[in-house]
Amino acid sequence: MAAGREIDQLAGHFAAAPATFTTSPLYRALCPVVAEDRPTLELLTGRRPGQQASYLFFGAAHYLLLAGVRHPLRDFYPSLVGPAAARPADAGPVLLDFCRRYRADLGELIRTRLVQTNVVRRAVALRYALRIVGQHCAGPVHLVEVGSSAGVHLHVDRYRYLVGGRAFGPADAVVSLDSRWLGRTPPPDLDDVPPIASRTGVDLNPVDVTDETARRWLRALVWPENRDAATLLEAALDVVAADPPAVVAGDAVEVCPEVGRALPPGEPRVVFHAATRMHVPAEQRSAFDRAIDSIGDGGPLYHVWQEPPSAPHGGQLADARAELAMHGPDGVVLPLLRVDGHLRWLGPLEPPGRPVDGSGVAAAD
Ligand SMILES: C[S@@+](CC[C@H](N)C(=O)[O-])C[C@H]1O[C@@H](n2cnc3c(N)ncnc32)[C@H](O)[C@@H]1O
Repeated sequence: MAAGREIDQLAGHFAAAPATFTTSPLYRALCPVVAEDRPTLELLTGRRPGQQASYLFFGAAHYLLLAGVRHPLRDFYPSLVGPAAARPADAGPVLLDFCRRYRADLGELIRTRLVQTNVVRRAVALRYALRIVGQHCAGPVHLVEVGSSAGVHLHVDRYRYLVGGRAFGPADAVVSLDSRWLGRTPPPDLDDVPPIASRTGVDLNPVDVTDETARRWLRALVWPENRDAATLLEAALDVVAADPPAVVAGDAVEVCPEVGRALPPGEPRVVFHAATRMHVPAEQRSAFDRAIDSIGDGGPLYHVWQEPPSAPHGGQLADARAELAMHGPDGVVLPLLRVDGHLRWLGPLEPPGRPVDGSGVAAAD
């Protein structure tokens, strides 16, 4: 793509991005500043294909601050200075100064890192989907997460779930995930889920959770106001570190067929992906879908996804309100839930036209 056109597209992306950062006043204030700053937009043309520019840029700046860079920009980050953080509205000129001073470091991070935000609460969505899978098949299931990042969802059965005033999962779990239930009737029994026979992740870049800099990158991708999400992430990374699941390195397009062949023939498998297909370059998405479907060659496949409606599996999303959907071995898409991108809330599908209760715009990264 011609450089000028790409810069214009990036400017448009940042101009529209405040709507995405629902829980980050700081990033909402800074998006228009980046949209107007050509030198910073130029840096972003060096990112890897498919990477979402605003998540990557803000992750890179946050990473440098978390690593100890001393710059007045840190005073605007609740993740660094707590509730005393300065007003987001004043951060623009400070960000521009930061971008000039740390241009080389930002450029290196933008060129080499991936948006790997591991949102622990998305395990709530997976847990819900497992309950539905259990209604369709008997016995243990093999769990595969495509785009697993550090793999926190692969331990979906080790967390406590606090949903709609009910608690599910082991009472002694060290990680508790609270999520608001927007249904008019209580949530279903999330203890009624099939056991997990094996767990396997697939990722372009599996994260070594024992490596401090790798953990810092994941931490940097959490928006600075979301301190509860950062605390959950640290706790879940410790759970992963204590018993790391296998995560196969590579592009899902190449790796998924091998992963499918390695599973015991005839046994049910659940393939989950969240905020992953949206980062696959558009021209590769059909191959990505075929690779996932190939896991069903060796046994009944239950494919569950939490992706924005703009990136549905195989273009076949039956209901654009359902950001959590699945299909079983018959291939028929079952819309499951409306969910916030970070799973702060979830709710059953309401009839079209009925307002969503307090949900705001769903974010996903
Ligand atoms: C935004 S993160 C989401 C992580 C996790 N699914 C979650 O919801 O917390 C997307 C992950 O997908 C991985 N990814 C993107 N494209 C991929 C591909 N083609 N094959 C394998 N992994 C991919 C990235 O490396 C990254 O770890």
